[in-house]
Amino acid sequence: MLMECKMRLGIMCSGNGTNFENIIRTCTDHEVVLMIHNKEKCGAAKRSDKLGIPHCHISHKNEDQMVKLFEAWRVDLIVLAGYMRVLKDPSAFHCPIINVHPSLLPKYKGLNAVKQALDAQEVTTGCTVHYVTEDLDAGEIILQEEVSILPHDTVETLTKVIQQREYEILPRAIGMVG
Ligand code: GAR
Repeated sequence: MLMECKMRLGIMCSGNGTNFENIIRTCTDHEVVLMIHNKEKCGAAKRSDKLGIPHCHISHKNEDQMVKLFEAWRVDLIVLAGYMRVLKDPSAFHCPIINVHPSLLPKYKGLNAVKQALDAQEVTTGCTVHYVTEDLDAGEIILQEEVSILPHDTVETLTKVIQQREYEILPRAIGMVG
């Protein structure tokens, strides 16, 4: 009899964790085995408890500990799902790392990407899933989705629309990578 062997995902979060919860609900061919969060009390930690996923708080300063933990949990792919720190040394991790970012990279890297696009008076923006390298938001792009910016859009309204697209492209990208 063949044993079903699901790809093991490790997730990293800093905030609300809606992408994290969406991955658990939609990536049923994958197994989310561990979520690491750098903010002790965040929405992602609460979601982890609710969904019965093991999670661990580790300061962003302790990247070595993150590397060891993901290795110990035999993670095949790490997904940054709203992890708001730059990894100092992504090459130290034993497996590929991907990230979801709320802009059409290479435009608007870093923090406040939605506001950056609004301030630049763009008519479109979007979201990107890409591989993580040592350069900020600059690794190879896996998938992108475009979103129109409407005249009345605010950071809040546009973020909501972009996140709906993230809930589609991040699981698809995970399926493509693994
Ligand atoms: C997502 O929109 C993601 O694109 C963004 O944080 C949000 C997390 O939301 N990430 C970045 O800005 C990374 N530079 P969530 O915690 O509800 O999934």
